Amino acid sequence: MSHALELRDLSVRYARKGFALDGVNLTIPKGGVVALLGANGAGKTTMIRAISGLLPLHNGQITGGSIAMDGQSILGLPSHKLVRMGMGQVPEGRLVFKQLTVEENLRVGAAVLPKSTEKERMDAVYELFPRLQERRSQAAGWLSGGEQQMLALGRALVTRPRLLLVDELSLGLAPLIVRAIYKQLKLVGETLGASILVVEQNARLALDFAATAYVLERGRITLSGSAQEVANSDLVRESYLGAAKEGGAA
Ligand SMILES: Nc1ncnc2c1ncn2[C@@H]1O[C@H](COP(=O)(O)OP(=O)(O)OP(=O)(O)O)[C@@H](O)[C@H]1O
Ligand SMILES: [Mg+2]
Repeated sequence: MSHALELRDLSVRYARKGFALDGVNLTIPKGGVVALLGANGAGKTTMIRAISGLLPLHNGQITGGSIAMDGQSILGLPSHKLVRMGMGQVPEGRLVFKQLTVEENLRVGAAVLPKSTEKERMDAVYELFPRLQERRSQAAGWLSGGEQQMLALGRALVTRPRLLLVDELSLGLAPLIVRAIYKQLKLVGETLGASILVVEQNARLALDFAATAYVLERGRITLSGSAQEVANSDLVRESYLGAAKEGGAA
């Protein structure tokens, strides 16, 4: 059976720089939730860009390896095509259109859908995040950080992606809000049967959320396994969970 996503030996470099990804292997099973952990500059966003066809925008290039979605090579496909194939993305940095209203932002996400399904899909997002519905005619720039992140997620969900890539959902947000957004994300994953890749610097959060996890260090996967195995590893306990030497459960 094919996987939702499979990276084999994937290498990426940016113009005039060394490898940002160096022979990376990663698998997302169908319906699986996978976390990608790593420090600043490890290459997490680069991996998302490579999967979603956005590397050329950043002067980056895949120099080797393969990427398959549902068993089909997607190497070199542009992002608009990937969206139509069922890929959704929540980019790093809450990229919403600040001058557009909440509703208009969702409409941008829905642009690839047939007109007849647009309203139903947008209503489903409002149901998931009632806060967005309350603010549907407000400019996105006036929303709080958490609400903007809900909107960025909603915009990706409006197409009902089979594969969702989420980059640093938690960055700069209060823990309670982050937990609430992750809870909704989990619900969506379960109801849609979507496969999800979450990139997180907050390892504890990611390991609570995901079934399997990978650790990326300087462009290489140095550890992978079930979320529990990874959480219990010395590497992650010491470098990512800030555990004291003698440990002790939180
Ligand atoms: N457009 C670019 N041009 C050149 N180098 C880049 C570019 N984008 C990223 N890099 C470099 O590639 C490496 C990986 O960066 P990337 O943004 O993928 O890391 P990251 O794991 O997402 O980090 P963070 O946690 O800070 O978001 C870094 O050394 C970075 O400086
Ligand atoms: Mg990043």
